[in-house]
Amino acid sequence: MAEIGRDIKAAAKLLLAGKLVAIPTETVYGLAANALDEEAVLSVFEAKQRPFFDPLIIHVPSLLEAKKYATFHDERLLGLAKQFWPGPLTLLLPKKDVIPALVTSGLQQVAVRVPDHHLTLELLKTINVPLAAPSANPFGYVSPTEALHVEKQLGKKIDYILDGGPSQVGLESTIIGIEDNMVCVYRLGGLSLEDIEKKTGPLELRLNNSSNPKAPGQLKNHYAPKKPLYLGDLQELLKQHSGKTMSLISFGSKKQSGHHHIHYSLSTKKDLREAALHLFRILRLADEDGSEIVLCERLPDEGLGRAINDRLKRAATSDANPH
Ligand code: TXA
Ligand code: MG
Repeated sequence: MAEIGRDIKAAAKLLLAGKLVAIPTETVYGLAANALDEEAVLSVFEAKQRPFFDPLIIHVPSLLEAKKYATFHDERLLGLAKQFWPGPLTLLLPKKDVIPALVTSGLQQVAVRVPDHHLTLELLKTINVPLAAPSANPFGYVSPTEALHVEKQLGKKIDYILDGGPSQVGLESTIIGIEDNMVCVYRLGGLSLEDIEKKTGPLELRLNNSSNPKAPGQLKNHYAPKKPLYLGDLQELLKQHSGKTMSLISFGSKKQSGHHHIHYSLSTKKDLREAALHLFRILRLADEDGSEIVLCERLPDEGLGRAINDRLKRAATSDANPH
């Protein structure tokens, strides 16, 4: 069991001694280690059972601090940092030598972000080193949006969980970089493409999958619940799977009736931000309730809906979602 609390000094002391601490952010909880301490970074990979080829994001308290660890070689990325940090945006930037190769899996670019959570910002200012932090879930499972999610799955492997309440965005950060002189999106996330495009103009989508080694963490079967999850039109899915006990996840009001269903709504008023906020918590609930399978509705492909659909596709059982 990890201790859960709000003691920034205790968290700082552990991190500076090379220990692991889970940290709250506006996107999801992170499993943090001092990014400049290779031994500590190694234990992040071990605790998550994450392959070493999947690099980590470093977290810093400000743009000024970010410049110690990465080069802002492109005005467009600098503009995004100025506008959206602190916030759910990660930038891929040429790394400086102080960042150990283990953090970037040997890549020349480091992923950097300033998280928007007052406890973590205060912690980062206190320790004065960047924190390498992947989402605080076992490799391949749904990301945690509450301290208790972290405790349940990784509690035995970490020393302290800084409890900052439920994450206020609920989806991981959007990852942006430059390639071939274009602003590229590598992961859809908590900052919508529409918001980014207003600043940069058209974006190039280079979303990660197993054939794109740029961000190998985004494998097809990430976010996989333990139960089969089928994604599509709820009425169709209900017909296809009749006879099973099912959990239904819908967007909008819960209109299905039937005794065999446990029904969740991502947002009864069809608000995409609210759906993002509830997504991972509801996926966990559906995975742990008594049903045999989970059926989930697709969301509109706009704003945060795109990132939500991306997570759902990765969570879905592949025979229901071939490609
Ligand atoms: O919102 C977030 O981004 C959360 C919170 C904790 O900050 N973190 C997070 O980390 O989602 P993680 O490790 O679960 O996902 C990071 C993604 C992975 O897909 C990884 O491959 C990619 O970022 N990534 C990290 N460093 C990279 C690099 N140097 N080059 C390319 N991709 C990188
Ligand atoms: Mg993750």
